[in-house]
Amino acid sequence: MHLASTYALSSCRIRTRGQEVAFLRMAAPYSLTSIVFLFATIGLAHAQQGNGRSAPALFQDRCAGCHGQNLEGGKASSLLDQKWAHGGDDASLENTIRNGLPVSGMPAFGTVLSDAEIRALIVFIRESATRVGNPEMRGSHPLPDGPQSSEAATYRMELVSSGFDVPWSIAFLPDGRMLVTERPGRLRVVKDGAVAPEPVSGIPDVWAHDEGGLFTVLLHPDYAKNGWVYLSFADPGEKNTSMTKIIRGRLRGNAFVDQETIFNMPRESYRESGMSFGGRLVFDGRYLFFSVGERGKVGDAQQLDNPYGKIHRLHDDGRVPDDNPFVHTPGAMPSIWSFGHRNPQGLAVVPETGELWETEHGPRGGDELNFIRRGANYGWPVITHGMNYDGTPVSSLTAKVGMEQPVRHWTPSIATCPILFYTGDAFPGWKNQLFLGSLAQQEFLRFTLDGGKISHEERVFKNRGRVRDIQQGPDGCIYLALEIPGGGGLVARIVPDRKP
Ligand code: HEC
Repeated sequence: MHLASTYALSSCRIRTRGQEVAFLRMAAPYSLTSIVFLFATIGLAHAQQGNGRSAPALFQDRCAGCHGQNLEGGKASSLLDQKWAHGGDDASLENTIRNGLPVSGMPAFGTVLSDAEIRALIVFIRESATRVGNPEMRGSHPLPDGPQSSEAATYRMELVSSGFDVPWSIAFLPDGRMLVTERPGRLRVVKDGAVAPEPVSGIPDVWAHDEGGLFTVLLHPDYAKNGWVYLSFADPGEKNTSMTKIIRGRLRGNAFVDQETIFNMPRESYRESGMSFGGRLVFDGRYLFFSVGERGKVGDAQQLDNPYGKIHRLHDDGRVPDDNPFVHTPGAMPSIWSFGHRNPQGLAVVPETGELWETEHGPRGGDELNFIRRGANYGWPVITHGMNYDGTPVSSLTAKVGMEQPVRHWTPSIATCPILFYTGDAFPGWKNQLFLGSLAQQEFLRFTLDGGKISHEERVFKNRGRVRDIQQGPDGCIYLALEIPGGGGLVARIVPDRKP
């Protein structure tokens, strides 16, 4: 049998170093697991409806008469100017809305609105304020000329290579060439900035719609010895369904050969959703970690019998490590390392300690940066700082015992995507710090870490394109895969500014 973990419905078993572990019970149509699961799903759908109406509609109904249709103010103050007479943190806003301001004439809404509705209104107010505060957030500028200053480094931005169609990730071959994935399904080889005219042949077909396509390209830590190149992608199933899949293979000339499956799911479990594939891969030096998003079904992230909304951990050949947290949990997928995630698209390892960091997209608001602990639950969708895209609340809870808090969260969303722990020498002031790129808000952020927490944060720049990947090059410089809104994509390099 091939070593890779092929999660087949028929067998319902996968191999972990000789011992077999049963974990998927989907094959029995009315098994206990699926019935429990069905009730959990119904419960959740019910809770969502019960949670209330959409925040924009509520605002028009209950608040616009005084605060203006666009929150610009009228009878009462503007909610867009970021000036808060009664406190601007979440707890103060909640208190104002719940208890009102009897002296000023703001009614109390604590008895007419649910906790979740109040929570969604707060998200809505913050989101509206940010939109107004950043009129340029849609456009992005070409790379800046000349030295750019930031707190801990002066740098320049250089174009490495352009002409990509949604460049998703970058990897560096030891011979100096660079591999770049394009989401529509091409693996490109770049030499001295020039993109080879033909993409690598033999790449499997990908489901290239919505958020789906070809995702990460990653080299094995021992690539020099074994030549393994890993790819993650949306694998097309029947009738417009798809699912995150991982393979590895070797480059021979311009062909991708010796292909092996590292992770896949049975076709029957593929979904029609075009959202939340996760798809990020990272090695901690020994084990392969990867992310799978919830794939359009809210609630799966809390169940251990499915791969959705999880970070997984496997041996390089796809076997499940014996010391994974749920290998002995009946019914659990043994590859799971942590759960309760929505759509994780960023993973980074701190080489010296093996610490794992993750980013995930919230719905509307509630983007997160997480410090990942073995077996821990990160709460989605039971706790979140965001709301549904249609403005209805997801949950009234932002914290719960037994569920991890994000290290940092963003409401409104910036669309947190790649992260990199920088260890290079090109930027001494940036060494051993975490960098984060965002899609929608096109931000490039720097964090100084301290024992699983952030001790300092800087926005290095904004509006240079949607940041899809951040990698450290062999030259110690930082490379970015940038998708330019409105078309085009490029790889740029951040280099230290050398004084003449
Ligand atoms: C009858 C008019 C009225 C309605 C309706 C009303 N408010 Fe107010 N609101 C006020 C007044 C007056 C203030 C005090 C403004 C000031 O500080 O001068 C206020 C203050 C606030 C503040 C605090 C602003 C600050 O500067 O700290 C928030 C937040 C707020 N309202 C939210 C809401 C929301 C959300 C709704 C709808 C659920 C709402 N309000 C409905 C009149 C109203």
